[in-house]
Amino acid sequence: MIRRNALLILGTSLLISTSLQANPTEETEALYQQHCASCHGADRLGGMGPALLPQNLSRLKQPAAEAVIRNGQPATQMPAFADVLDADAITALADYIYRAPAKTPDWGQAEILASHLLPHPSGTLPDEPAYKADMMNLFLVVETGDHHVTVLDGDKMEPIHRFASRYALHGGPKYSPDGRYVYFGSRDGWITRYDLFNLTVTAEVRAGINMRNIAVSADGKYVMAANYLPHTLVLFDAANLELVDVIPVGNDAGDSSRVSAVYTAPPRNSFIAALKDIPEAWEITVQDGEAKVRQMQTDTWLDDFFFDPDYQHLIGAARDGKRGYVINLDTGATIAELPLPGMPHLGSGVTWESQGRRVMATPHLGTGAVSIIDMQTWEVIKTLKTEGPGFFMRSHENSRYAWVDVFFGPNQDKVHVIDKQTLEIVKTLQPAPGKVAAHVEFDRYGKKLLLSIWEKDGAVIVYDAETLEEEKRIPMNKPSGKYNVWNKINYEEGTSH
Ligand code: HEC
Repeated sequence: MIRRNALLILGTSLLISTSLQANPTEETEALYQQHCASCHGADRLGGMGPALLPQNLSRLKQPAAEAVIRNGQPATQMPAFADVLDADAITALADYIYRAPAKTPDWGQAEILASHLLPHPSGTLPDEPAYKADMMNLFLVVETGDHHVTVLDGDKMEPIHRFASRYALHGGPKYSPDGRYVYFGSRDGWITRYDLFNLTVTAEVRAGINMRNIAVSADGKYVMAANYLPHTLVLFDAANLELVDVIPVGNDAGDSSRVSAVYTAPPRNSFIAALKDIPEAWEITVQDGEAKVRQMQTDTWLDDFFFDPDYQHLIGAARDGKRGYVINLDTGATIAELPLPGMPHLGSGVTWESQGRRVMATPHLGTGAVSIIDMQTWEVIKTLKTEGPGFFMRSHENSRYAWVDVFFGPNQDKVHVIDKQTLEIVKTLQPAPGKVAAHVEFDRYGKKLLLSIWEKDGAVIVYDAETLEEEKRIPMNKPSGKYNVWNKINYEEGTSH
């Protein structure tokens, strides 16, 4: 079989290319089944290797995927095919995985139930931490370079443990209200429940084929998953990740929608979902083990949400990237429109008190600016110019500074420090020239913080939050987000939830 392709180069290409021409898809499909299906699944839904469907591959450019097929992925199980398949076959395979399958794959109740794994049912592991540390000041660091997670002691700023995660974690892990368990969501739809006391996975389930994120209810009883594929929200019992409900997402006219994200709204004891393809925001409550949906019509498609501290209002970014809308969550009415040109990244916004009023601040994905908004009048009170578009903004109640990265463009290696009272940039750091510096998370006290050098040979850098002096660098493999237990379970105003 392998020889056939070698021969192709040697001159029998006419024969093969005729057959390729006659039925290109069938030919490539056969190649896929022969060489790829064992790891990526016969239906391309993934297996030992990740799912290979257009939605799942959206972050990888097709030429990059072709290079992966040709050269393999060093230090992983993904083999190189350059010696096995000729260039045309590799191109055809890359083409093939970026095309939707003839039949949209299903991922409903039966598939979800069949995927459920329960290595340690709830109540079967010791209820004491297996090591000494302030469990409230732990950080998790997601290392996307080789799909691992590091548990870091936030007092000593030293790693405690490192473990393999599912492929391509997405959307940030979420803690149980007591901080003992953490839930991870992966691009390919896997939810993993991990016990931080015993440093082990307790349960897993696959909620969808292409998932955006997950949320944990404020009472810790439920986990909800937001999917792009299929068009569903999926509700699980948080204890063992047992399926509770699959909610098809669509409007009354019969259009279905991808779900951009799901959030938990603690004072409302509900979940809020942002929908990609229909102009609605959803509030979901769980009553007697059943999900009840409240549909709120919106003026336009809203992608990305921020909430005021008491969850009275939702601030949504319009899909056109030019505006933000403020929606009263009780009435469902749009009460203000904010001029936020340049694609605000509201999901990463932060809030604080400044001169007697509450403000929120958001970076923009499309322009070098931070918008600062008065949350009483819903007016933009300041637009700070930065050295390029930013991705993440972070602060802490106890810190006088807010940090914003310059994630896109030539100044990716810089981060700005903003004085929360004067609303001015007071310092610009460039910790590793030429290397992406991004995403800050504070410790529980707001005294120290971690910044990522977002590279394969990267690090997290520990800073003193007051003096802004570097304390140390801990080497990591493309660290992205960092998540402090205390800040997350207390919905600290300076971090995303
Ligand atoms: C022995 C198992 C195995 C086989 C066979 C295999 N792969 Fe993979 N593949 C993997 C693993 C594991 C990864 C993830 C590597 C990593 O961790 O970066 C991967 C990654 C990939 C990626 C990158 C996906 C992404 O989202 O970044 C592509 C594209 C890919 N494989 C295509 C193929 C194709 C096409 C074939 C057949 C010609 C194939 N693979 C055969 C195991 C395999």
